Amino acid sequence: MSFDDVILRRGTGSIKWDLRPELDPYWVADMDFASPPAVIEALQKRVAHGVFGYPIPHKGLREAILNYLSSRFQFKTKVDWIVHLGGLVPALSLAARAFGEPGDELLTCTPVYPPFVSVARDAGMKTVTVDHVMSGGRWTFDWEGLEQAATAKTKIFLLCNPQNPLGRCFTGEEITRIAEFCQAKGILLVSDEVHCDLVLDEEKTPFFSALHLSEELRQNTIVLLSPSKTYNVAGLGYAYAVIENSSIRGKFKSARGHTMPEINCLAYYAAEAAYRDGESWRQDLLSYLRKNRDVISEFVATEMQGKIVIPDIEATYLAWMDCSSFAFENPAGHLEKAGLFVSDGSYFRAKKHIRFNFGCAQSRVLEGLGKIKSGLLNY
Ligand SMILES: Cc1ncc(COP(=O)(O)O)c(C=O)c1O
Repeated sequence: MSFDDVILRRGTGSIKWDLRPELDPYWVADMDFASPPAVIEALQKRVAHGVFGYPIPHKGLREAILNYLSSRFQFKTKVDWIVHLGGLVPALSLAARAFGEPGDELLTCTPVYPPFVSVARDAGMKTVTVDHVMSGGRWTFDWEGLEQAATAKTKIFLLCNPQNPLGRCFTGEEITRIAEFCQAKGILLVSDEVHCDLVLDEEKTPFFSALHLSEELRQNTIVLLSPSKTYNVAGLGYAYAVIENSSIRGKFKSARGHTMPEINCLAYYAAEAAYRDGESWRQDLLSYLRKNRDVISEFVATEMQGKIVIPDIEATYLAWMDCSSFAFENPAGHLEKAGLFVSDGSYFRAKKHIRFNFGCAQSRVLEGLGKIKSGLLNY
């Protein structure tokens, strides 16, 4: 199986392909690639067993996670620090319900993956947002804005690192400063790092996990991880939290109540295989994504007459395109007329932007870019 292969997904119950079948989809963050052979084999083996009763995280999975955290982050975890969950978004909501009371505030930076802004509602909390700012050609935090936004009611800061949709992989200084800010204000830091294994040039922009913070700062931190984005198994629904502080962990776990379903018994086996046997596939994926990213940069520079602006994409397979030089109020809506389905920036709290998913065969990337060009330049 090559990343160049175009696998037909229409009619497979795919939200990306079947929600609006009349459009060509480059929106939601799942890739069009098959998962690594090791993951598919592990699933086939588990399915062949034929019995699908209630699961527990089995020994192989627990070991695979501990080994992953140790080799990827040089972080020694205790098995008890891991809380298994059915997805990251439920985990964000759970954090809000565990640590916020109605009327409290949840702080996050925009533009951002939409649930960051909406999960506060699950706890009756209010969302307060501060826009990311551009500094030296890179998106970063508005430190003054954060200082001003934090109040005695602010209980949680949701961090997205690497950042979706900006594609930023924040530095150690930035993450440490965020963590120190949270600690000084008595705000719990929740760091969603689901895109951390999709850093495109790790030598240039190394990933700094909240797990790399000092022990003191880690005591005020929940880290959310999953193999779901990297190995394209989001449809199996699995994520986990690493929580070192036992009282935070206890509160987080008990807030689950009866609101979280059992975790999918297949997902555990897929996660184990991805972490244990997926690394060489991941490296191949990253080199393919780098080429797709370069195709996009080249296209924006040469074909779009400087009318689309994109940041350097340091991580993710998502290109955040600033289309504000065009007169269209809603570029994503406009592109539907050219048959294209991209994410509308306003869902991320940035109008006149689109997010283009390049986790697909390069021929498909080129097709999508062609439609962007004809849709925006020729209308
Ligand atoms: C930053 C971030 N967090 C969470 C998710 C979704 O996670 P899950 O499918 O596990 O709920 C996404 C999906 O795009 C994401 O980009």
